[in-house]
Amino acid sequence: MLRVAIDGPSGTGKSTIAKAVAARFGLEYIDTGAMYRALGLKALRNGVDAADEAAVKKMLDETAIDFAGGCTMLDDEDVSGLIRTNEISMAASNISKLAIVRAKVDEVSRYLASTKDVVMEGRDIGTTVIPDAEVKIFMTASPEIRARRRYEQLLEAGKEADYDKIYEEVQARDYQDSHREVSPLRQAEDAAFLDTSDLNIEEVVDAVSGIITEKTGRTA
Ligand code: DC
Repeated sequence: MLRVAIDGPSGTGKSTIAKAVAARFGLEYIDTGAMYRALGLKALRNGVDAADEAAVKKMLDETAIDFAGGCTMLDDEDVSGLIRTNEISMAASNISKLAIVRAKVDEVSRYLASTKDVVMEGRDIGTTVIPDAEVKIFMTASPEIRARRRYEQLLEAGKEADYDKIYEEVQARDYQDSHREVSPLRQAEDAAFLDTSDLNIEEVVDAVSGIITEKTGRTA
């Protein structure tokens, strides 16, 4: 069994790296943030306030989420594209504060990790979701670099982007994700720390691959 947990704030390149590492080692890639995003999307669509726990509970009881074959499924609808907006980023961060929401995503995530070898990325995979993961990595980069990467991604996608606004959003979401009561973003004691500020994608993939090989003896 091989479970690679990659945690860290947004904009560190976690998703790109996790996907590349999964392909290199023949593992399944699981994006837990995408499931919080899908629940954030449903809450927005249905006018459910993240602060209204009873309403969120009712919504959860009537919702199926899954991360199947690289697609984010919300009640059998593929929402993979729809959830990549700034509005949904904040909605996901808001709804992810609730313990009942986290329990639902944790249950799906743990089930997926029990059926196959995975690279799972999120905020609390190494601390809460799979604390006994064979490999744990905490990835970070400076807020300025993370905002700059997001800004460039948006420009490349032909979308409008305001660097100062993105920088503020990065900081607001970091603060919210690391100060919530339930499973806040933090490094697991036994996680390898990786600062990607001055590394390109290939260098980070190599570094993560090296950690996997060192910990497990598995080679790509
Ligand atoms: O990784 P991401 O930006 O797609 O995640 C969206 C939000 O979901 C993020 O702001 C915090 C939350 N999240 C979480 O609380 N725990 C996880 N394991 C993954 C994401």
